[in-house]
Amino acid sequence: MTETVRENQVAEPGKILIVDDNEELLGAISRLLEMQGYSTLTAMSGEEALEIARLEKPDLILLDWILPGVDGIEVCRELKSDEATRGMMILLVTGQGSVDNRIEGLDAGADDFIPKPFKHPELLARIRSSLRLKSATDELTERNRQLVESQYELVRTEKIATIGLLASGIAHEFNNIMAGISGYAQLAKKNPKYMPQLVEVALTQAQRAQELTGSLSSYNRRGEENSACDVQDVIHGALCLVKKEAESNGIEISLDIQEVPTAAISAGQLQEVILNLLINGIHAIEARGGITLSVKRSGPEKMIEITVGDTGSGIPKENLNRIFDPFFTTKGALGGGRQEGTGLGLSVCYNIIQSRGGRITVESAPGMGTTFSIALPVFEQAAGGAVPAASGDPAALENREGNHRILVIDDEEQIRQMLSDFLGTDNVVCRSTGEEAIDVCRTRDFDFIILDVCMKNSSDGIDTFRRLKQADPQARIILCTGNLAESMPEEILESCHAHLLKPFKLDDLSTILNMAVEA
Ligand SMILES: Nc1ncnc2c1ncn2[C@@H]1O[C@H](COP(=O)(O)OP(=O)(O)O)[C@@H](O)[C@H]1O
Ligand SMILES: [Mg+2]
Repeated sequence: MTETVRENQVAEPGKILIVDDNEELLGAISRLLEMQGYSTLTAMSGEEALEIARLEKPDLILLDWILPGVDGIEVCRELKSDEATRGMMILLVTGQGSVDNRIEGLDAGADDFIPKPFKHPELLARIRSSLRLKSATDELTERNRQLVESQYELVRTEKIATIGLLASGIAHEFNNIMAGISGYAQLAKKNPKYMPQLVEVALTQAQRAQELTGSLSSYNRRGEENSACDVQDVIHGALCLVKKEAESNGIEISLDIQEVPTAAISAGQLQEVILNLLINGIHAIEARGGITLSVKRSGPEKMIEITVGDTGSGIPKENLNRIFDPFFTTKGALGGGRQEGTGLGLSVCYNIIQSRGGRITVESAPGMGTTFSIALPVFEQAAGGAVPAASGDPAALENREGNHRILVIDDEEQIRQMLSDFLGTDNVVCRSTGEEAIDVCRTRDFDFIILDVCMKNSSDGIDTFRRLKQADPQARIILCTGNLAESMPEEILESCHAHLLKPFKLDDLSTILNMAVEA
């Protein structure tokens, strides 16, 4: 270590900016420092010093307190308040060296002082010590940055690992959904009497698919301040994802869910916590066993209590206060177990719950099982901001739809066909690309444009939106997206007429069109 430092000093002793209005002194110090191997820059005023510091980024500034115009203290304050120049060491040269002076200097951010007149050996010693401090600070900053980065990376890895664990369950769920629809479609093709069943199955399975994709995409969403969620929905979504994994391990999941108010946490965050606890429970149950999930209101406090209990191996006493530590695991390469694990699941859960003003605790008995309890605050609705419910009266649309001219832009043929059947073929013009849509808008006017923003050519949707708005800022564009979690520029969400999430309810579309007519 000492070796490297010494070597570094020889290789690159540092760049020093000397600031003094006395030209003679400036020259003398500059020569002295260059003889020691430093490279030097000079400035004779505060303004000049600021300019050179910003441009040349010296490692250290030897700064005279008293300067014409902007003085040393001011230079110090400016450099230390700017992210780009904060790291430079400032050695303030004080005239009198009084205590008051030093306090003012320290407050302005100076790193060290040297009183005038000074002896050369003292000046050189102070410069060396400041530069040592700087290189240690730089190294620490860099290490810290790497640490934060690897933490993000790990949390991402943990999420990917969880999704990986669940992938077969998700595929299974999708296949079941498709099996029902495809089976009845084949039957109905052979014999139209199965048509009503096909319709029923398609509707229920589409709903199921929507719940599944909804639970997957909320997993990826970051929790925002002030977010809230329906605990029951989230639990339902999490169960959708782990059901297969539990079943194939002979684990029964039982529920005891009571009606509770909205919880003050985002759906994505709560789902992440519940998923982690469920997967841990599944891992802990070696052969057969059960997991119980309960939700209730807790006591007089405005809290919601969620518990996840299992009849698994339990946690040895000596591990109980380590399980929430990052990387503590008895699984995978780190923990020597056969299951996969990163040791991050519970620490992520802990941080999420803590950040929402909640608590997470554990009770466990080896050989008997483990129960995690979460207490979460009830969401307190801010005043105002209630969204009016959609009235969804299809009859209302039928009376007026003759008046609307609607352009549908979607790359899915089936969706174009369905929308034009629903809205009336006479009123609807369909186009499958943004380019064609923009073309048709040149010659015809539309009351509404229904635009799929997530077309195969991914930039097409957003780009088309912008171009349509540019051509006609009043255009009423209803956006359809497959996934709300995908990043949608703020400006687009704000300037669209309405926003529908696929698969959407036709009644909702009617409501949007009717409301515009009434307005
Ligand atoms: N329900 C549980 N039953 C028994 N042990 C558990 C349970 N949940 C967590 N643990 C223990 O806590 C450790 C840390 O859990 P976690 O942070 O989720 O990381 P991982 O599951 O990746 O090991 C696990 O390795 C396991 O030893
Ligand atoms: Mg885990």
